[in-house]
Amino acid sequence: MTKRMGYRDWRWHALWWHHFFLLWSTTDGQTRYTIPEELKQGSVVGNLAKDLGLGLSEVFDRKLHVASEAGKQYFSVDAGKGELVVNERIDREALCGQSASCVLPLQVVIEDPLQLHKIEVEIRDINDNSPSFLTNNLSLKIAESAAVGTRFPLESALDPDVGSNSLKSYTFSKNECFSLKIKEMEGGRSVPEIVLDRPLDREKKPIHNLLLTALDGGNPVRSGTSQITITVLDINDNFPVFDENVYKVTLDEKSIKGAVIARPKATDADEGSNGEIEYSFGVRTPDSVLSLFEINSLTGEIILKGDLDYETTSSYDIDITAKDKGSPEMEGHCRVQVDVVDYNDNAPEIVITSQPKSVREDAARGTVVALISARDLDSGDNGKVTLQLPKGSPFSLKPSFSNNYALVTSGALDRESLTEYNVEITATDSGSPPLSSKKTIPVTITDVNDNPPIFTQPSYNVYLKENGLPGSILYSVSASDLDLGENAKISYSISDSKVQGVSVSSYVYINSDNGSIYSMHSFDYEKLKVFQIQVQAKDQGSPSLSSNATVHVFILDQNDNAPIVIYPSSAVLGSLSHQRMPRSAKAGHLVTKVTAVDADSGHNAWISYKLAEATDASLFTVNLYTGEVRTKRAVSEQDDSSQRLLIEIKDDGEPVQSATVTVSVLLEDGLHEPILDLRQKTVEPSKKSGRITLYLILSLASVSVLCLVTFLILTVKCIRNSRSSGSCCMRRSDCDDYKNPNRNLQIQLNTDGPIKYVEVLGGDMLSQSQSFRSCMSPMSEYSDFTFVKPSSTTDFKEMISVLDASLPDSTWTFESQQVRTNLSVLFS
Ligand SMILES: *[C@@H]1O[C@H](CO)[C@@H](O)[C@H](O)[C@H]1NC(C)=O
Ligand SMILES: *[C@@H]1O[C@H](CO)[C@@H](O)[C@H](O)[C@H]1NC(C)=O
Ligand SMILES: *[C@@H]1O[C@H](CO)[C@@H](O)[C@H](O)[C@H]1NC(C)=O
Repeated sequence: MTKRMGYRDWRWHALWWHHFFLLWSTTDGQTRYTIPEELKQGSVVGNLAKDLGLGLSEVFDRKLHVASEAGKQYFSVDAGKGELVVNERIDREALCGQSASCVLPLQVVIEDPLQLHKIEVEIRDINDNSPSFLTNNLSLKIAESAAVGTRFPLESALDPDVGSNSLKSYTFSKNECFSLKIKEMEGGRSVPEIVLDRPLDREKKPIHNLLLTALDGGNPVRSGTSQITITVLDINDNFPVFDENVYKVTLDEKSIKGAVIARPKATDADEGSNGEIEYSFGVRTPDSVLSLFEINSLTGEIILKGDLDYETTSSYDIDITAKDKGSPEMEGHCRVQVDVVDYNDNAPEIVITSQPKSVREDAARGTVVALISARDLDSGDNGKVTLQLPKGSPFSLKPSFSNNYALVTSGALDRESLTEYNVEITATDSGSPPLSSKKTIPVTITDVNDNPPIFTQPSYNVYLKENGLPGSILYSVSASDLDLGENAKISYSISDSKVQGVSVSSYVYINSDNGSIYSMHSFDYEKLKVFQIQVQAKDQGSPSLSSNATVHVFILDQNDNAPIVIYPSSAVLGSLSHQRMPRSAKAGHLVTKVTAVDADSGHNAWISYKLAEATDASLFTVNLYTGEVRTKRAVSEQDDSSQRLLIEIKDDGEPVQSATVTVSVLLEDGLHEPILDLRQKTVEPSKKSGRITLYLILSLASVSVLCLVTFLILTVKCIRNSRSSGSCCMRRSDCDDYKNPNRNLQIQLNTDGPIKYVEVLGGDMLSQSQSFRSCMSPMSEYSDFTFVKPSSTTDFKEMISVLDASLPDSTWTFESQQVRTNLSVLFS
């Protein structure tokens, strides 16, 4: 600008000097006008004619005019008035630039004579220019980190006006961060500068818009503005900030993998990469967390990738770091607190703290068998365990401290019914749904000698043939014991008792190991019919237990005795017996009666008589059963007077035993007295026997009536009882069987000559004296007849047959089809 000014000066000086030397005749009078610039065309500058001393006519005549200049012709002379007027717009700034004074030298020429007048027109400045900036919007970029006090030079404004109209000051729009300072430069120039007053914060205000106004000193003041846009450049001065410091998350233990459990969100106030956030777990995150969770580095979502286990870890503290990508990078932190909610995923467990002990079967209630404890890894209700035993178990659980229990006995134990109890304990927790588990505790019961040996039968009946071999096995009893080992080891023995005054041990002995009973004698039925042995079975327990059984030994008769003839008696066996009879005897005359006895019993003693040989077989006959020898026909004169009869007597045994007797009969004439005697004698016993027979009839009739009555009573009772409880009759008979095992009925026929008496034995076989009569008297004894063992029935029948045989013309009917024996005796 300075240069330009200089150039203009020079031009104008040169022009001036040219006129000066050329127009040497110019008058020296100096005329000067002052006008403001920018006058309208035609504006009067001054009265030139007057100032030059010319008349108006001269002005026209002498052609007063302004010498033409190179370039523009700013002025001209008004020929009429002689006034100098503005010819063209005059811009002072264009003519004189910034120079303080601006004078235009003019040559006024008057012709005829040529005269040159030098005049000056000073152009006064007016404030016609506003200050202006080269660029009216200016962009500045200032780092956020710029220090307070830093200055940023701005462009100066320009005002072509001069003096007071030139640029005077600057103003600045109000801003909290920046202020304006004017820096005075050499040469009086001033440069506006903005100064940073306060630290910048891009995050608060990224762009500052300032308006710089330049003012001049004119009146009115003119101004120019420049828009200054300050862009604050971001620096990474903000760390990412999480919405919350701690995120609390409650997670179900059964949460599925892949679930997003938390979304911590961080924001960074910075921009660009300074505000780009990357999420990660904290540096010191333990492996347990890393194995379970993962984090999405872009979104910050925390994802469950493993299985939670409340029992291992019930809560996690996860440190999360959010890092921006600035340089240096900045980070923010937060914590995710994960609380796992227990799920009932653990079944309770039963632990045996002390191994079960075996228990004696007689253990008192409350005996401790085992110690157990229950546990459940879950917590709260899920871990609350209750134990249960099956109903009816002879054990119970006694709780001790916390979850410990003692398994104790609470009921009776019996090894014989159950050797080992498998006590099943059920543990259930209180979760929802509840879980349970079972444990079986084997409890062995040890044996106690609480069972005595038991015989297979309370009593045994043994039927033994007489004349057996000594040392043979008579019977084998056996007993069993429910206990175990020594407690069940049985030894047999025979209790000492007397049989016919002799210790029983001299009759039999027992194998103590297996209960086989051996005879030491051969028995003779005729001497000993029945005896009993008391057998004891004893176990080896401590204390030992024992039980008894009775073995009834019935000796069975063998036909080992031949019949013995007792009448006609003879001192010497086989010798003749003489009988006399009158010749006048008619047919059917009883000659004599042969009587024999047999020591055996039953069939073995069932004697029959037979005429084996006779002098005249047509004369005599022998009654098969009675042995009566009678005449068949009347004796004739021709009959030999001496008759000899051989009578054979046989029993019904097997093999048959027999005996013979020889009777010699003398037929005499006129023999009366002896016969009468004989008759009388024979009548007497028959009378007697008739009476006895009557008694017998009465007795048997009584028995029959009694039996009938008993039967009726029992029937009535049975009908009553059976309404309430099934079969009383059978039970009663069973009871009888036990109560009176030895009851038996024996009818003994004594045949001492003609029938004298019949003995009916009943009741206990030992008390053989207990007779038939005793059965009849008290009513309580009726049972004697109500029960007859089927085995003995045959014997009984035999007896009856014997009786039958001995009682001619009589019929016995015996019915024993029912247990309740209906004994009816028909006698005619
Ligand atoms: C600044 O001025 C120029 C030229 O006048 C214009 O093109 C531009 O859009 C302006 N910028 C702003 C930010 O005002
Ligand atoms: C008992 O033992 C004896 C001798 O060893 C033997 O002869 C007998 O047959 C046994 N009895 C039984 C019932 O086993
Ligand atoms: C068995 O018999 C013996 C001898 O007679 C007696 O001492 C014992 O008490 C009886 N035992 C039982 C259980 O009846």
